Amino acid sequence: MKRHLLSAADLSRDDAELVLTTAAELRELADRPIKKLPALRGRTVVNLFFEDSTRTRISFEAAAKRLSADVINFAAKGSSLSKGESLKDTALTLEAMGADAVVVRHGASGAPHRLAHSGWVRSSVVNAGDGTHEHPTQALLDAFTMTRHLGGHLDGRRIVIVGDVLHSRVARSNALLLDTLGAEVTLVAPPTLLPVGVESWPVETSYDLDGVLPKADAVMMLRVQRERMNGGFFPTAREYSRRYGLDGRRMATLQDHTIVMHPGPMVRGMEITADVADSDRSVIVEQVTNGVAVRMAVLYLLLGGSEPAVGGEE
Ligand code: NCD
Repeated sequence: MKRHLLSAADLSRDDAELVLTTAAELRELADRPIKKLPALRGRTVVNLFFEDSTRTRISFEAAAKRLSADVINFAAKGSSLSKGESLKDTALTLEAMGADAVVVRHGASGAPHRLAHSGWVRSSVVNAGDGTHEHPTQALLDAFTMTRHLGGHLDGRRIVIVGDVLHSRVARSNALLLDTLGAEVTLVAPPTLLPVGVESWPVETSYDLDGVLPKADAVMMLRVQRERMNGGFFPTAREYSRRYGLDGRRMATLQDHTIVMHPGPMVRGMEITADVADSDRSVIVEQVTNGVAVRMAVLYLLLGGSEPAVGGEE
């Protein structure tokens, strides 16, 4: 593994598989009454969140705490960042506090790269979502969830990712990682919500959701990111749902084993109907549980745990 996790492309197939197998060992812990291991005792993990987050921030916090690391949560609101302090000064402050890993979410694509490669900090940097660019730990937890449901590996599995690909760091990271793991990815979106240059991604694209659903092994729905839009990407919400939303009628065309995923937060009634989100095929809540195990694995591997993560209990 490299020292930082900035992009899903930083992971070779061996690296990705190591994260997934380590996460599988750590996942067992979630079912035990005492969910804590001493693996990162004495290490400090800083969660640096410049953008809103529910799942990802809590998930990294739970992951670090379950490995006995000290956790410092740092949100832009209420800090000197709202007084205009720069990323550099923030980084120097974190460095002075002895951070071993900095988990960063930022509205600007590339901010975690800047932090990692500027020489401002010595710690490992983990990208927890940068602008519309990447969200590698989300892709890892998605791959982990798919692997568990689709027979232990993703070679040749057909994964369909639907919706606002243009603004989705989740879609980009998934496309890269799923390709590394041997899956075949199809992106389905209106032409206005596919990024320029998508031809160079390792994916197929389609505008016809009904055409691709019957062959899918997993269907991942994406939120329409209205906060990153200024209108004009599709006629109306109703029209969007009709063409690109997953409802009960469409779900009925899936194969029996096919799972339905969503990174959250969902807009029920827009990209996914409530009956689909709450159906037996939905693994959306399980994705959240798996996210903690996957982030534990990432922190453990990046911070250079030389002992096996599980088994070192006292
Ligand atoms: C996503 C994100 O923030 O990139 N959510 C997440 O991390 N679970 C997707 C989104 O905001 O729609």
